Amino acid sequence: MSSFEYNNNELYCEGVSLKQIAEEVGTPYYVYSAKEFRTQYQHFYNAFNKIDRIVCFAVKACGNIGILSLLSSEGCGADIVSGGELHRALSAGMDHSKIVFAGVGKTREEIIFAIKSDILMFNVESRQEIDLLNECALELNKRARIAIRVNPNVDAKTHPYISTGLKENKFGIPVKTAKKDYIYANSLDGIDVVCIHCHIGSQLIDVSPFRDAAEILVKLIKELRKERINIKYLDLGGGLGITYNDEASPSHSDYAAALCDVLQGEDMTLIFEPGRNIAGNAGALITKVLYTKETEDKNFKIVDAAMNDLARPSLYDSYHEVKAVDETSETITADIVGPICESSDFLAKDRKMPDVDIEGLYALMSAGAYGMTMASNYNSRPRVPEILVDGDQYYVIRRREIYNDLTGPEMVPAYLRKK
Ligand code: LLP
Repeated sequence: MSSFEYNNNELYCEGVSLKQIAEEVGTPYYVYSAKEFRTQYQHFYNAFNKIDRIVCFAVKACGNIGILSLLSSEGCGADIVSGGELHRALSAGMDHSKIVFAGVGKTREEIIFAIKSDILMFNVESRQEIDLLNECALELNKRARIAIRVNPNVDAKTHPYISTGLKENKFGIPVKTAKKDYIYANSLDGIDVVCIHCHIGSQLIDVSPFRDAAEILVKLIKELRKERINIKYLDLGGGLGITYNDEASPSHSDYAAALCDVLQGEDMTLIFEPGRNIAGNAGALITKVLYTKETEDKNFKIVDAAMNDLARPSLYDSYHEVKAVDETSETITADIVGPICESSDFLAKDRKMPDVDIEGLYALMSAGAYGMTMASNYNSRPRVPEILVDGDQYYVIRRREIYNDLTGPEMVPAYLRKK
Protein backbone atom coordinates (compact mmCIF):
# COMPACT_ATOMS: atom_id res chain seq x y z
CA MET A 1 0.00 0.00 0.00
CA SER A 2 1.25 3.46 -0.89
CA SER A 3 2.00 5.95 1.85
CA PHE A 4 -0.20 8.48 0.05
CA GLU A 5 -3.84 7.35 0.18
CA TYR A 6 -7.32 8.89 0.29
CA ASN A 7 -9.11 8.81 3.58
CA ASN A 8 -12.68 10.12 3.50
CA ASN A 9 -11.97 11.71 0.09
CA GLU A 10 -8.96 13.59 1.40
CA LEU A 11 -5.36 12.77 0.49
CA TYR A 12 -3.20 11.73 3.43
CA CYS A 13 0.48 11.01 3.84
CA GLU A 14 0.49 8.09 6.29
CA GLY A 15 -1.78 9.30 9.11
CA VAL A 16 -1.64 13.02 8.39
CA SER A 17 -3.99 15.08 6.23
CA LEU A 18 -2.16 17.06 3.56
CA LYS A 19 -4.80 19.77 3.84
CA GLN A 20 -4.08 20.14 7.52
CA ILE A 21 -0.35 20.60 6.83
CA ALA A 22 -1.20 23.19 4.16
CA GLU A 23 -3.31 25.12 6.69
CA GLU A 24 -0.51 25.07 9.24
CA VAL A 25 2.63 25.63 7.13
CA GLY A 26 1.16 27.18 3.97
CA THR A 27 1.82 26.13 0.38
CA PRO A 28 3.75 25.03 -1.58
CA TYR A 29 5.57 22.39 0.45
CA TYR A 30 7.38 19.12 -0.01
CA VAL A 31 6.16 16.23 2.09
CA TYR A 32 7.94 12.92 2.69
CA SER A 33 6.78 9.65 4.17
CA ALA A 34 9.20 8.20 6.73
CA LYS A 35 7.58 4.79 6.28
CA GLU A 36 8.22 4.80 2.53
CA PHE A 37 11.90 5.70 3.05
CA ARG A 38 12.33 2.93 5.60
CA THR A 39 10.59 0.25 3.56
CA GLN A 40 12.35 1.10 0.33
CA TYR A 41 15.72 1.01 2.09
CA GLN A 42 14.94 -2.27 3.85
CA HIS A 43 13.61 -3.95 0.70
CA PHE A 44 16.68 -2.86 -1.21
CA TYR A 45 19.05 -4.04 1.52
CA ASN A 46 17.27 -7.33 2.17
CA ALA A 47 17.08 -8.26 -1.52
CA PHE A 48 20.82 -9.04 -1.36
CA ASN A 49 20.74 -11.02 1.85
CA LYS A 50 23.17 -13.65 0.61
CA ILE A 51 25.98 -11.16 0.03
CA ASP A 52 27.88 -8.65 2.20
CA ARG A 53 26.69 -5.22 1.14
CA ILE A 54 26.47 -1.55 2.02
CA VAL A 55 23.68 0.64 0.65
CA CYS A 56 24.91 4.21 0.26
CA PHE A 57 21.99 6.55 -0.41
CA ALA A 58 22.72 9.10 -3.18
CA VAL A 59 22.48 12.36 -1.23
CA LYS A 60 21.91 14.35 -4.43
CA ALA A 61 18.45 12.78 -4.69
CA CYS A 62 17.19 14.12 -1.35
CA GLY A 63 19.76 15.69 0.94
CA ASN A 64 17.79 17.04 3.89
CA ILE A 65 19.63 16.14 7.09
CA GLY A 66 16.35 14.95 8.64
CA ILE A 67 16.02 12.36 5.87
CA LEU A 68 19.70 11.39 6.01
CA SER A 69 19.45 10.90 9.73
CA LEU A 70 16.38 8.67 9.30
CA LEU A 71 18.20 6.54 6.73
CA SER A 72 21.34 6.42 8.81
CA SER A 73 19.40 5.00 11.76
CA GLU A 74 18.35 2.16 9.44
CA GLY A 75 22.03 1.42 8.74
CA CYS A 76 22.28 3.28 5.44
CA GLY A 77 25.46 5.01 4.22
CA ALA A 78 25.89 7.89 1.76
CA ASP A 79 27.04 8.42 -1.80
CA ILE A 80 28.27 12.02 -2.07
CA VAL A 81 29.50 14.23 -4.90
CA SER A 82 30.71 17.36 -3.12
CA GLY A 83 32.08 18.80 0.10
CA GLY A 84 28.61 20.18 0.74
CA GLU A 85 27.09 16.71 0.59
CA LEU A 86 29.83 15.40 2.89
CA HIS A 87 28.94 18.17 5.33
CA ARG A 88 25.27 17.13 5.12
CA ALA A 89 26.04 13.45 5.68
CA LEU A 90 28.27 14.16 8.68
CA SER A 91 25.84 16.72 10.14
CA ALA A 92 23.13 14.06 9.96
CA GLY A 93 25.37 11.71 11.97
CA MET A 94 25.98 9.30 9.12
CA ASP A 95 28.73 6.73 9.59
CA HIS A 96 31.92 8.04 7.87
CA SER A 97 32.95 4.48 7.14
CA LYS A 98 29.89 4.11 4.88
CA ILE A 99 30.51 7.20 2.74
CA VAL A 100 31.68 6.98 -0.89
CA PHE A 101 32.68 10.07 -2.85
CA ALA A 102 32.08 10.24 -6.64
CA GLY A 103 32.31 13.02 -9.22
CA VAL A 104 34.58 14.07 -12.08
CA GLY A 105 35.68 17.37 -10.55
CA LYS A 106 36.64 16.96 -6.90
CA THR A 107 38.69 19.92 -5.65
CA ARG A 108 41.78 19.73 -3.44
CA GLU A 109 39.78 21.22 -0.54
CA GLU A 110 37.03 18.63 -0.92
CA ILE A 111 39.57 15.81 -1.10
CA ILE A 112 41.33 16.98 2.06
CA PHE A 113 38.01 17.35 3.91
CA ALA A 114 37.05 13.79 2.90
CA ILE A 115 40.43 12.23 3.78
CA LYS A 116 40.33 13.92 7.18
CA SER A 117 36.78 12.60 7.66
CA ASP A 118 38.10 9.08 6.98
CA ILE A 119 35.42 8.17 4.43
CA LEU A 120 35.21 4.64 3.05
CA MET A 121 36.50 5.51 -0.41
CA PHE A 122 36.85 7.88 -3.33
CA ASN A 123 35.40 6.84 -6.67
CA VAL A 124 38.10 8.23 -8.90
CA GLU A 125 37.40 9.37 -12.44
CA SER A 126 40.80 10.28 -13.96
CA ARG A 127 44.56 9.74 -13.75
CA GLN A 128 45.06 13.34 -12.63
CA GLU A 129 42.64 12.81 -9.79
CA ILE A 130 44.62 9.74 -8.69
CA ASP A 131 47.73 11.92 -8.53
CA LEU A 132 46.02 14.67 -6.57
CA LEU A 133 44.55 12.16 -4.12
CA ASN A 134 47.95 10.58 -3.62
CA GLU A 135 49.55 13.97 -3.00
CA CYS A 136 46.85 15.02 -0.49
CA ALA A 137 46.97 11.70 1.35
CA LEU A 138 50.76 11.84 1.70
CA GLU A 139 50.58 15.43 2.98
CA LEU A 140 48.17 14.26 5.66
CA ASN A 141 50.22 11.14 6.41
CA LYS A 142 47.32 8.95 5.42
CA ARG A 143 46.31 6.55 2.67
CA ALA A 144 43.22 7.21 0.58
CA ARG A 145 41.09 4.20 -0.29
CA ILE A 146 39.92 4.30 -3.88
CA ALA A 147 37.79 2.70 -6.53
CA ILE A 148 38.34 3.56 -10.15
CA ARG A 149 35.07 4.46 -11.82
CA VAL A 150 35.02 2.39 -14.95
CA ASN A 151 32.92 3.34 -17.92
CA PRO A 152 31.68 -0.01 -19.24
CA ASN A 153 30.15 1.45 -22.42
CA VAL A 154 26.71 -0.09 -21.92
CA ASP A 155 23.51 1.57 -23.02
CA ALA A 156 21.27 2.24 -20.01
CA LYS A 157 18.33 2.93 -22.36
CA THR A 158 17.21 5.95 -20.37
CA HIS A 159 16.91 9.72 -20.95
CA PRO A 160 20.17 10.91 -22.60
CA TYR A 161 20.71 13.55 -19.87
CA ILE A 162 20.82 10.89 -17.18
CA SER A 163 22.68 8.21 -19.09
CA THR A 164 26.28 8.02 -17.89
CA GLY A 165 27.83 4.70 -18.96
CA LEU A 166 28.39 5.27 -22.67
CA LYS A 167 31.83 5.96 -24.07
CA GLU A 168 30.85 9.47 -25.17
CA ASN A 169 29.90 10.43 -21.57
CA LYS A 170 32.34 12.39 -19.40
CA PHE A 171 32.22 9.83 -16.58
CA GLY A 172 34.79 7.26 -15.52
CA ILE A 173 37.79 5.73 -17.21
CA PRO A 174 37.22 3.51 -20.28
CA VAL A 175 37.20 -0.14 -19.35
CA LYS A 176 39.91 -0.82 -21.95
CA THR A 177 42.48 1.39 -20.23
CA ALA A 178 41.37 0.98 -16.60
CA LYS A 179 43.81 -1.86 -15.90
CA LYS A 180 46.77 0.43 -16.63
CA ASP A 181 45.41 3.02 -14.21
CA TYR A 182 44.79 0.39 -11.55
CA ILE A 183 48.40 -0.81 -11.81
CA TYR A 184 49.60 2.79 -11.61
CA ALA A 185 47.37 3.66 -8.61
CA ASN A 186 48.46 0.51 -6.83
CA SER A 187 52.10 1.61 -7.07
CA LEU A 188 51.48 4.84 -5.13
CA ASP A 189 52.21 5.14 -1.41
CA GLY A 190 49.22 7.32 -0.61
CA ILE A 191 46.65 5.14 -2.35
CA ASP A 192 44.93 1.97 -1.25
CA VAL A 193 43.13 0.34 -4.17
CA VAL A 194 40.10 -1.46 -2.77
CA CYS A 195 37.19 -1.28 -5.19
CA ILE A 196 35.86 -1.02 -8.71
CA HIS A 197 32.96 1.30 -9.44
CA CYS A 198 30.49 2.05 -12.19
CA HIS A 199 27.25 3.99 -12.50
CA ILE A 200 25.63 3.65 -15.89
CA GLY A 201 22.63 5.93 -15.58
CA SER A 202 19.46 6.75 -13.76
CA GLN A 203 15.81 5.63 -13.97
CA LEU A 204 16.62 2.26 -15.55
CA ILE A 205 13.54 0.13 -15.98
CA ASP A 206 15.30 -2.82 -17.51
CA VAL A 207 17.78 -4.75 -15.37
CA SER A 208 19.82 -6.18 -18.25
CA PRO A 209 22.19 -3.18 -18.59
CA PHE A 210 23.09 -3.59 -14.87
CA ARG A 211 23.85 -7.22 -15.51
CA ASP A 212 25.96 -6.42 -18.59
CA ALA A 213 27.94 -3.84 -16.61
CA ALA A 214 28.48 -6.26 -13.70
CA GLU A 215 29.78 -8.92 -16.11
CA ILE A 216 32.31 -6.49 -17.55
CA LEU A 217 33.45 -5.44 -14.08
CA VAL A 218 33.80 -9.00 -12.78
CA LYS A 219 35.98 -9.81 -15.79
CA LEU A 220 38.21 -6.86 -14.97
CA ILE A 221 38.41 -7.87 -11.30
CA LYS A 222 39.72 -11.28 -12.38
CA GLU A 223 42.37 -9.63 -14.55
CA LEU A 224 43.36 -7.36 -11.69
CA ARG A 225 43.73 -10.29 -9.33
CA LYS A 226 46.30 -11.74 -11.74
CA GLU A 227 48.22 -8.49 -11.22
CA ARG A 228 47.96 -9.04 -7.44
CA ILE A 229 45.50 -6.21 -7.06
CA ASN A 230 42.98 -7.50 -4.62
CA ILE A 231 39.61 -5.83 -5.09
CA LYS A 232 37.51 -6.14 -1.92
CA TYR A 233 34.46 -4.14 -2.95
CA LEU A 234 32.34 -3.86 -6.06
CA ASP A 235 30.31 -0.64 -6.28
CA LEU A 236 27.54 -0.89 -8.86
CA GLY A 237 26.29 2.68 -8.46
CA GLY A 238 22.63 3.64 -8.45
CA GLY A 239 20.10 3.85 -11.23
CA LEU A 240 17.27 1.47 -10.37
CA GLY A 241 14.08 3.09 -11.68
CA ILE A 242 10.67 3.67 -10.16
CA THR A 243 7.11 3.95 -11.45
CA TYR A 244 6.18 7.56 -12.21
CA ASN A 245 3.32 6.78 -14.57
CA ASP A 246 2.84 3.29 -15.95
CA GLU A 247 6.44 2.11 -16.29
CA ALA A 248 6.91 -1.48 -15.18
CA SER A 249 9.85 -0.76 -12.90
CA PRO A 250 11.81 -3.82 -11.77
CA SER A 251 11.31 -5.11 -8.25
CA HIS A 252 14.22 -5.30 -5.83
CA SER A 253 14.23 -9.07 -6.20
CA ASP A 254 14.40 -8.84 -10.05
CA TYR A 255 17.35 -6.54 -9.66
CA ALA A 256 19.06 -8.80 -7.11
CA ALA A 257 18.39 -11.92 -9.18
CA ALA A 258 19.96 -10.36 -12.29
CA LEU A 259 23.10 -9.43 -10.38
CA CYS A 260 23.47 -12.40 -8.05
CA ASP A 261 23.87 -14.73 -11.02
CA VAL A 262 26.89 -12.79 -12.25
CA LEU A 263 28.38 -12.27 -8.80
CA GLN A 264 28.01 -15.80 -7.52
CA GLY A 265 31.21 -17.14 -6.01
CA GLU A 266 32.93 -13.74 -5.96
CA ASP A 267 34.16 -13.00 -2.49
CA MET A 268 33.57 -9.30 -2.00
CA THR A 269 31.35 -6.67 -0.44
CA LEU A 270 28.84 -5.01 -2.75
CA ILE A 271 28.11 -1.31 -2.60
CA PHE A 272 24.97 0.26 -4.07
CA GLU A 273 24.19 3.94 -4.50
CA PRO A 274 20.42 4.18 -5.00
CA GLY A 275 18.85 7.61 -4.85
CA ARG A 276 15.59 7.73 -6.77
CA ASN A 277 14.63 4.18 -5.87
CA ILE A 278 14.66 5.01 -2.16
CA ALA A 279 13.33 8.58 -2.28
CA GLY A 280 11.27 9.04 -5.43
CA ASN A 281 7.91 7.71 -4.35
CA ALA A 282 8.40 8.81 -0.75
CA GLY A 283 7.78 12.47 -1.56
CA ALA A 284 5.21 14.81 -3.11
CA LEU A 285 4.99 18.52 -3.81
CA ILE A 286 1.78 20.11 -2.60
CA THR A 287 0.66 23.26 -4.36
CA LYS A 288 -2.37 25.55 -4.36
CA VAL A 289 -4.32 26.72 -7.40
CA LEU A 290 -4.03 30.52 -7.58
CA TYR A 291 -5.99 31.10 -10.78
CA THR A 292 -7.59 29.13 -13.55
CA LYS A 293 -7.45 30.35 -17.11
CA GLU A 294 -9.24 29.06 -20.19
CA THR A 295 -8.11 30.14 -23.63
CA GLU A 296 -9.48 28.96 -26.95
CA ASP A 297 -6.85 26.25 -27.12
CA LYS A 298 -6.03 25.36 -23.60
CA ASN A 299 -6.92 25.22 -19.95
CA PHE A 300 -4.37 26.40 -17.44
CA LYS A 301 -4.18 25.79 -13.73
CA ILE A 302 -1.86 28.46 -12.39
CA VAL A 303 -0.41 27.21 -9.11
CA ASP A 304 1.89 28.61 -6.44
CA ALA A 305 4.69 26.09 -7.14
CA ALA A 306 6.89 26.48 -10.19
CA MET A 307 9.84 25.11 -12.15
CA ASN A 308 12.20 26.53 -9.53
CA ASP A 309 10.58 24.19 -6.97
CA LEU A 310 10.33 21.12 -9.22
CA ALA A 311 12.60 21.38 -12.25
CA ARG A 312 12.17 17.88 -13.66
CA PRO A 313 9.19 18.51 -15.98
CA SER A 314 10.80 21.52 -17.66
CA LEU A 315 14.27 19.98 -17.72
CA TYR A 316 13.54 16.41 -18.83
CA ASP A 317 9.90 16.62 -19.82
CA SER A 318 9.32 14.19 -17.00
CA TYR A 319 5.97 12.98 -15.76
CA HIS A 320 4.69 13.46 -12.23
CA GLU A 321 1.25 12.12 -11.47
CA VAL A 322 -1.23 14.82 -10.49
CA LYS A 323 -3.68 14.12 -7.66
CA ALA A 324 -6.30 16.36 -6.15
CA VAL A 325 -5.88 16.66 -2.39
CA ASP A 326 -9.69 16.78 -2.12
CA GLU A 327 -10.75 13.78 -4.19
CA THR A 328 -13.05 14.63 -7.09
CA SER A 329 -14.52 12.77 -10.04
CA GLU A 330 -14.52 15.93 -12.21
CA THR A 331 -11.69 15.90 -14.76
CA ILE A 332 -10.19 18.43 -17.12
CA THR A 333 -7.40 18.42 -19.69
CA ALA A 334 -5.05 21.19 -18.70
CA ASP A 335 -1.51 22.41 -18.10
CA ILE A 336 -0.35 23.01 -14.55
CA VAL A 337 1.89 26.07 -14.71
CA GLY A 338 3.71 28.22 -12.18
CA PRO A 339 4.18 31.97 -11.77
CA ILE A 340 7.66 32.07 -13.39
CA CYS A 341 8.17 34.18 -16.49
CA GLU A 342 9.09 31.34 -18.85
CA SER A 343 6.99 29.12 -21.08
CA SER A 344 8.99 26.15 -19.83
CA ASP A 345 7.49 26.74 -16.40
CA PHE A 346 5.09 23.81 -16.31
CA LEU A 347 4.59 20.94 -13.90
CA ALA A 348 2.20 18.96 -16.13
CA LYS A 349 1.30 19.47 -19.75
CA ASP A 350 -1.84 18.57 -21.76
CA ARG A 351 -2.80 16.24 -18.99
CA LYS A 352 -6.19 14.79 -18.18
CA MET A 353 -6.34 15.46 -14.46
CA PRO A 354 -8.75 16.03 -11.60
CA ASP A 355 -10.40 19.42 -11.96
CA VAL A 356 -9.43 21.51 -8.95
CA ASP A 357 -10.76 25.02 -8.59
CA ILE A 358 -9.11 28.17 -7.29
CA GLU A 359 -7.78 27.77 -3.69
CA GLY A 360 -7.84 23.97 -4.06
CA LEU A 361 -4.71 21.79 -3.71
CA TYR A 362 -2.87 19.55 -6.11
CA ALA A 363 -0.27 16.94 -5.17
CA LEU A 364 2.54 16.32 -7.64
CA MET A 365 3.50 12.78 -6.88
CA SER A 366 6.86 10.95 -6.99
CA ALA A 367 8.72 14.17 -6.26
CA GLY A 368 10.88 12.82 -3.42
CA ALA A 369 14.00 12.41 -5.59
CA TYR A 370 15.65 15.32 -7.44
CA GLY A 371 12.81 17.59 -6.34
CA MET A 372 13.93 19.82 -3.50
CA THR A 373 17.62 19.14 -4.20
CA MET A 374 17.28 20.71 -7.65
CA ALA A 375 15.17 23.64 -6.46
CA SER A 376 16.50 27.15 -6.98
CA ASN A 377 15.58 30.72 -6.08
CA TYR A 378 14.89 31.70 -9.69
CA ASN A 379 12.57 34.72 -9.92
CA SER A 380 13.58 35.37 -6.30
CA ARG A 381 11.20 32.78 -5.02
CA PRO A 382 12.00 31.61 -1.49
CA ARG A 383 12.45 27.84 -1.40
CA VAL A 384 9.58 25.86 0.09
CA PRO A 385 9.58 23.94 3.37
CA GLU A 386 10.11 20.21 3.69
CA ILE A 387 7.85 18.18 5.95
CA LEU A 388 8.50 14.67 7.23
CA VAL A 389 5.49 12.58 8.18
CA ASP A 390 6.00 9.65 10.52
CA GLY A 391 2.81 7.82 11.47
CA ASP A 392 0.31 10.41 12.64
CA GLN A 393 2.88 13.12 13.34
CA TYR A 394 4.54 15.58 11.04
CA TYR A 395 7.79 17.49 11.47
CA VAL A 396 9.09 20.58 9.66
CA ILE A 397 12.57 19.44 8.58
CA ARG A 398 13.31 22.60 6.62
CA ARG A 399 11.52 25.88 7.20
CA ARG A 400 10.18 28.03 4.41
CA GLU A 401 12.78 30.57 3.28
CA ILE A 402 12.07 34.22 3.99
CA TYR A 403 12.96 37.25 1.86
CA ASN A 404 16.06 37.89 3.95
CA ASP A 405 17.35 34.43 3.03
CA LEU A 406 17.42 35.70 -0.56
CA THR A 407 19.44 38.84 0.05
CA GLY A 408 21.29 37.78 3.23
CA PRO A 409 24.51 36.58 1.53
CA GLU A 410 24.61 39.58 -0.86
CA MET A 411 26.45 42.86 -0.36
CA VAL A 412 26.19 46.34 -1.82
CA PRO A 413 29.73 47.69 -2.35
CA ALA A 414 30.48 50.60 0.00
CA TYR A 415 30.75 53.15 -2.83
CA LEU A 416 27.17 52.41 -3.92
CA ARG A 417 25.62 52.55 -0.48
CA LYS A 418 23.06 55.31 0.01
CA LYS A 419 24.17 57.80 2.68
N1 LLP B 1 25.74 7.31 -8.09
C1 LLP B 1 26.23 8.20 -8.95
C2 LLP B 1 27.67 8.24 -9.19
C3 LLP B 1 25.35 9.07 -9.62
O1 LLP B 1 25.83 9.95 -10.50
C4 LLP B 1 23.95 9.01 -9.36
C5 LLP B 1 23.01 9.93 -10.04
C6 LLP B 1 23.50 8.06 -8.42
C7 LLP B 1 24.41 7.23 -7.81
C8 LLP B 1 22.04 7.93 -8.06
O2 LLP B 1 21.28 7.55 -9.14
P1 LLP B 1 19.76 7.08 -8.94
O3 LLP B 1 19.75 5.83 -8.12
O4 LLP B 1 19.04 8.16 -8.25
O5 LLP B 1 19.26 6.85 -10.31
N2 LLP B 1 18.40 14.88 -11.90
C9 LLP B 1 18.06 13.68 -12.62
C10 LLP B 1 18.84 12.48 -12.12
C11 LLP B 1 20.35 12.66 -12.20
C12 LLP B 1 21.12 11.49 -11.64
C13 LLP B 1 22.57 11.80 -11.51
N3 LLP B 1 23.36 10.77 -10.90
C14 LLP B 1 16.55 13.46 -12.51
O6 LLP B 1 15.87 14.26 -11.92
O7 LLP B 1 16.05 12.49 -13.06
